[in-house]
Amino acid sequence: MAERILVTSALPYANGAIHLGHVVEYVQTDIYVRFLRSCGQDVVYFCADDTHGTPIELNAAKQGIPPEQFVARFHDEHQRDFQDLDVRFDYFHSTNSPENRQYAELIYGRLKDAGDIDRRDIEQTYCEKDKRFLPDRFIRGTCPNCKSADQYGDACEKCGKTYNPTDLIDARCALCGTPPVRRNSVHLFFKLSRHEAFLQEVLKRPGFLHPGLATQLQGFFEKGLADWDISRDGPYFGFAIPGETDKFFYVWLDAPIGYIATTEKWAKETGKQKDALAYWDKDAPTRIIHFIGKDIVYFHALFWPAVLKVAGFHVPNEIKVHGHLTVNGEKMSKSRGTMVAARDYLDLLDPSYLRYFYAANLGAGVEDLDLNLKDFRLRVNGELVNNVGNLANRALSMLAGPLEKKLAPGREAGPGRTLVEQALARVPEVREAFEKLEYRAAIKIITDIASTANAFLQTQAPWALVKKDAEAARADLSDAADVAYLLGALLAPVIPRVSERLFAQLNAPALTFQALATAKYPLLDRSRPLGTPEPLLPRLEEERVNAIIKNPVADIPPPGSGGKDKKSEKKPMDAKSPEAQAAAPTPQASPGAGAGTVEPVPAADIEYADFAKVVLKAGRIVAAEKVKGADKLLKLEVDLGEGSPRTIVSGIAEAYTAEALAGRRVVVVANLKPRKLKGIESRGMLLTAGPGGKDLSLLEPGDVPPGSEIK
Ligand code: MSP
Ligand code: ZN
Repeated sequence: MAERILVTSALPYANGAIHLGHVVEYVQTDIYVRFLRSCGQDVVYFCADDTHGTPIELNAAKQGIPPEQFVARFHDEHQRDFQDLDVRFDYFHSTNSPENRQYAELIYGRLKDAGDIDRRDIEQTYCEKDKRFLPDRFIRGTCPNCKSADQYGDACEKCGKTYNPTDLIDARCALCGTPPVRRNSVHLFFKLSRHEAFLQEVLKRPGFLHPGLATQLQGFFEKGLADWDISRDGPYFGFAIPGETDKFFYVWLDAPIGYIATTEKWAKETGKQKDALAYWDKDAPTRIIHFIGKDIVYFHALFWPAVLKVAGFHVPNEIKVHGHLTVNGEKMSKSRGTMVAARDYLDLLDPSYLRYFYAANLGAGVEDLDLNLKDFRLRVNGELVNNVGNLANRALSMLAGPLEKKLAPGREAGPGRTLVEQALARVPEVREAFEKLEYRAAIKIITDIASTANAFLQTQAPWALVKKDAEAARADLSDAADVAYLLGALLAPVIPRVSERLFAQLNAPALTFQALATAKYPLLDRSRPLGTPEPLLPRLEEERVNAIIKNPVADIPPPGSGGKDKKSEKKPMDAKSPEAQAAAPTPQASPGAGAGTVEPVPAADIEYADFAKVVLKAGRIVAAEKVKGADKLLKLEVDLGEGSPRTIVSGIAEAYTAEALAGRRVVVVANLKPRKLKGIESRGMLLTAGPGGKDLSLLEPGDVPPGSEIK
């Protein structure tokens, strides 16, 4: 039997909104899971909210609610975000759950039994006013190195130097401003130092970690691995440590155990496995893959495997690390508004655009990825909308329109068949690229296939051919539809909802990588009628894209967590410039679905999808008057069959007098956003012909009732 694969993404803190940086990870993982599934692999995908720790406890207190209630709110919000981003976990649980407590206690018990827990008295920073020990992030003071004021207790954001909180000049409690004191307390340590040899061996396992990162971790071994402090004194939101008074598991002990707890919850709820051990037992025939950001490598590559080994659990097989998202070339920032909440994006745009853009820029390395809004728009429009979307739209709308939804049988030979077969021949490359997390390489091949197919249509010119030899045009278009079907399959892990739409329009079953492994020309069942074509995705508009930067995400980065990686530096992107990518051949034919006339139009023109948004209606002018202070404008009242007439301001005063207009039928652009002209709100626009000024005539819709749509 094939091995069972368990995939995780890092658990987001239940302390703020999911932002577009997080989304890099969830989309990267989700694409991989969908890809594996499409290949026929047995895979489960888990995630959960990370709910414990001081920042969450304090934020809940600030809102005057219990921490359980505070994290519950984010649980719902996060789940909705993932749902709408098309990120599909098999289960999304919480670390504040009975399953997690059970496994945290079990694992701790085993560490203790193994003699791997040490008690040590340590001195720490304590606030006597707040009656709590202060994590480094809750101490502020002047940097001992560069003397910048108001720096955190662990590192200076100005000069980048790291230090101990005791080194800070004029240290203060970040909560109340009181100078903190030093106080002793007993802490529990996991004896990581005993497991150096084991961890060295794990780091050398093929595929465990990116070799560059494994080398980077050698620095820790050279210094000698420090034992790991796994306890915190109360008050603390977390699990009480059995057998101790007022001591809690440090959030980073129970957080990764959340992966196991989620597996347990899923197993019990779905009945698909007996319990978590079906995956996590040390001898389970499984492959465990964690996706994480570069800021949390130590926890996953050093502490976690050692804990699992000592406790008798399955050590992860692979840790996939990605870099951080920057926005417009800079680190995401709340003050600049570039810490864009996923919800703010989703309120404006389809998730497919972002998923596509991330895929088009992601490789297997840990370099940062930049969301430059202009690149985003140009790349998505150039590749996804104009190239892939255009191919599908051209093929389908001609087939569905003049050719009555009927496909041609496959051909014995010829350029159409060659086109499909050459595209099919590239599938193993795409597959390998996804497998290696080289998504941008996969996208490159996919867009190449689309460009080639568009060039094929351009050469064959079925819009002209159809008039002379309809069957020849049908054959070419059917082969182009085959390629569109293939593209739907190859892109399905990246933009699942677009692929689904495409499959529906083709009236064909979802095509998988597994099926593609043995697929032959023709791909589509040519005896089935097509579905109804519609544009797959509208173009990204500049205004809308720019509008995603507005609301800063209000959260406090927890200590030892994402979003505060001081060592993260920007690296230049190695992706091709979007302008170069967008220059791929994207000639367009006016699809003319149902219209019968099919003529090529120049590439500079708008998409059919854009034109389709314009609503034209027949109207009747019921009243007209001059606009004061504007001798070219008339203020019209136009009946559009809506009950009351609309006010439309029109620049036709040189060609028509107000008196001449009453009762006249006109063509109106009916769905324009209202705009103010000379202080009058105008809701629509009249269509005219002619050079302008006096030489202008209103278009006549003919004898139809006001409100009739013009198509
Ligand atoms: N709760 C911990 C993880 C515990 S896993 C047992 C945590 N949470 S986080 O909310 O800060 O981050 C969750 C994931 O999102 C991490 O893998 C982190 O690297 C990733 N990202 C957070 N900000 C990011 C960017 N700006 N860019 C890319 N990934 C980012 O860490
Ligand atoms: Zn204080």
